[in-house]
Amino acid sequence: MSNINDRLISPIERQGDSALDLSLRPKTLREYIGQEKVKQNLEITIAAAKKRGEPIEHVLLYGAPGLGKTTLAHVIANEIGANIRVTSGPAIEKSGDLAAILTNLEAGDILFIDEIHRLPKAVEEILYPAMEDYSLDIIMGKGPSARTLRLDLPKFTIIGATTLASLLSAPLRDRFGVTHHLNFYETIDIEKIIKRSAGILNIEIDSDAGSEIASRSRHTPRIANRLLKRVRDYCEVKGDGRISLDGSLEAFKMLEVDKLGLDLIDRRILETIIHKFKGGPVGLNTLAAATGEEMETIENIYEPYLMQLGFLDRSPRGRIATVLGYQHLELEEPGTGKLI
Ligand code: ADE
Repeated sequence: MSNINDRLISPIERQGDSALDLSLRPKTLREYIGQEKVKQNLEITIAAAKKRGEPIEHVLLYGAPGLGKTTLAHVIANEIGANIRVTSGPAIEKSGDLAAILTNLEAGDILFIDEIHRLPKAVEEILYPAMEDYSLDIIMGKGPSARTLRLDLPKFTIIGATTLASLLSAPLRDRFGVTHHLNFYETIDIEKIIKRSAGILNIEIDSDAGSEIASRSRHTPRIANRLLKRVRDYCEVKGDGRISLDGSLEAFKMLEVDKLGLDLIDRRILETIIHKFKGGPVGLNTLAAATGEEMETIENIYEPYLMQLGFLDRSPRGRIATVLGYQHLELEEPGTGKLI
């Protein structure tokens, strides 16, 4: 079974990404490329809060992995001139962990909680009064003699990040004053991001090569920056270091990432549906057994992009390869006898 995080085109952060992300991360809204609507709204939120001399309201950012939720949280903090503390849902195991973080905050600080949907329920309940009234209820003792101690917290801002807003419980979602959805990026914006990153990393790149990398980046900046780095490596070893269109095409051939950013496993899933199950429908568990991948991995990691491309459909009876899927693999559409 392949490890999904070994995949070059995985949107999940991989080892080696973070140092890269740090140097490439835009610091201001002006530098941040794409997500125009979100930026416009945030600009107003930030300017209004600054004018009133208050911290901004709690912000919820949701969207697929790799689209820049963490980056945007840092940009917001930088624009406001606030300190940012970074943590994540799974890292806060007990109420005491959260209490320790909250009582160490100073007025105006931002607390970024990544994967906020993974906060344990008991911890989440501490967060409600903290977000609403800036107070922390500490329960001392047990049973009839238990007492609640209420501590005042400085006025701070939570920026929460999650992949799907619906993963959050309604009471938590309601406590965010501002909610923004990050969309997949337009290819033209990915091209701009690649150009910007190449500039920062001192990489010389032809503009048609930049477009080629962009179109294979699955509309995701994290993947674009990772591919840029790998293609640069290839062109440094095989050529003079400059990234040309030919060099990038050769690199992608070696890396086995196709025109649309599909890798071998994406294609194997589609081919399995087509070859072994006559195009489907095939149940998820059967597909998992036939491909050697886990059901959850197929459902959460591979399928979303295949569905977004319109190559795969989910039906009540199982997964189906679409005509577009056949076309992409240059396979014969069933029943027509023609190569489409
Ligand atoms: N690097 C990663 N994401 C970016 C973005 N949205 N704008 C500029 N550079 C980026």
